[in-house]
Amino acid sequence: MKAFNNSKHCEAGIGNGKGLTFFSAPWPARLRVSFALAIALACQGAFAADDAEKMALGKKLFTTAVPACAVCHTLKDAGSKGTVGPILDELKPDSARVSKALYDGLGAMPSFKASLSAAEIDALAHYVSKASGAEK
Ligand code: HEC
Repeated sequence: MKAFNNSKHCEAGIGNGKGLTFFSAPWPARLRVSFALAIALACQGAFAADDAEKMALGKKLFTTAVPACAVCHTLKDAGSKGTVGPILDELKPDSARVSKALYDGLGAMPSFKASLSAAEIDALAHYVSKASGAEK
């Protein structure tokens, strides 16, 4: 959860007034540039951590959700070979499609609204869309 807040903070920091005061301070230009670079790198780090965290959680949930996605779905990245539902590597659902299926259920697939939190569904949608190659 901390990483989520970090990303928001970075987005807000770029446009707010305080940032501008910093940059217009009478510092040597080179110092200001390196300061800006440091902020950019720190923000990039937060986004990367955010992504890695979601990927790890999504991958874990793919085999540990009840019932597990892996039981019914084939997804190479997760090492699963279920055949009840569509092969996700072929279907390549984007994250919106995954989360809709998880919230609403679909045909023989149950809804996970009651058993998974919104953050967990978000992580699964993120993971499946990326692992299947639907999103980068
Ligand atoms: C009991 C078996 C079962 C489980 C468990 C299951 N699914 Fe499914 N899933 C299905 C079936 C069957 C379909 C196809 C439904 C249809 O098209 O009528 C499906 C469809 C989907 C789709 C495609 C939705 C669409 O819009 O076409 C996605 C994405 C998906 N499942 C992801 C998951 C994920 C992620 C999990 C784990 C949280 C999961 N499924 C757990 C059986 C399952």
